[in-house]
Amino acid sequence: RKPVVFVTRKLPAPVEARMGELFDTHLNRDDHPLSRDELAAAMQRADVLVPTLTDRIDAGLIEAAGPQLKLIASFANGTDHVDVDAAARRGITVTNTANVLTEDTADMTMALVLAVPRRLAEGARYLANAGPGEWQGWSPTWMLGRRIWGKRIGIVGMGRIGTAVARRARAFGLSVNYHNRKRVSPETEAELEATYWDSLDQMLARVDIVSVNCPSTPATYHLISARRLALLRPEAYIVNTSRGDVIDEEAMIRCLEEDRIAGAGLDVFENEPDINPRLLQLADAGKAVLLPHMGSATLESRIDMGDKVIINIRTFFDGHRPPNRVLPGRN
Ligand code: GLV
Ligand code: GLV
Repeated sequence: RKPVVFVTRKLPAPVEARMGELFDTHLNRDDHPLSRDELAAAMQRADVLVPTLTDRIDAGLIEAAGPQLKLIASFANGTDHVDVDAAARRGITVTNTANVLTEDTADMTMALVLAVPRRLAEGARYLANAGPGEWQGWSPTWMLGRRIWGKRIGIVGMGRIGTAVARRARAFGLSVNYHNRKRVSPETEAELEATYWDSLDQMLARVDIVSVNCPSTPATYHLISARRLALLRPEAYIVNTSRGDVIDEEAMIRCLEEDRIAGAGLDVFENEPDINPRLLQLADAGKAVLLPHMGSATLESRIDMGDKVIINIRTFFDGHRPPNRVLPGRN
């Protein structure tokens, strides 16, 4: 018999069509975020749950799942929304969609690196809101931002995405600094002319732009804490395309309000989809550029993510180890 697969959100049509051919697939046609009760009901019946990052699959849900649930094949790169340890205790395998959204996320990171210092969102908003004839034209002293070229970027988390950000940053004349649990290969360090900082604190005190590119895990929760934010230079910018809770958002907001850092470019937030209204005020004031978690949002990446989910499910039911298995103890 075909595995019973519950998909929690609407996926691109070709992905849903292929899943429909291969599996006994249950789709979410109107794309409403599932309630906890709906998730629990799906997990009662499914052999495979395909959740995404808007579904919190916690230990309680996993323990209440039906005995036939064997695989959680998440449609996401980050797996902080799944309690992988609780799944392992129940003998449930967890997979993600690693490696297919690296370049798109790195592009969006670079867009935010540029957007805040160069006042991109402010300029676009000005023209969008200007009445006919309102713009008086170019002026030597108007809309002045800060130069990118020649500055230092500090990348927190040098995995695939961090490394892809570093390659782009170099092309924009930024010198690359990074902090990671372990150093990247000497070849990569040489290629990127990257400086490794064992001490995150020391790196933060010395860079002009901080880019957060590590996953959200218990070890990285509020990694960018109030104490560490205080180490940043007042001219420094911070960009986050990873997960909101890697930064102490409340502390960052205070730093921005008090001009203790120059600006922030954020694609992710601590309490998504709720946005702290003070962040919206900071965006109004030009001190923050806020995007609604769209770092990996390209048609191509969503199709590739769907392919990954399908390959993980098929490999698993062929009796092999799925390629994107997420090991317990990692988050
Ligand atoms: C996006 O944020 C993802 O983790 O897939
Ligand atoms: C960052 O990735 C860290 O683990 O410190």
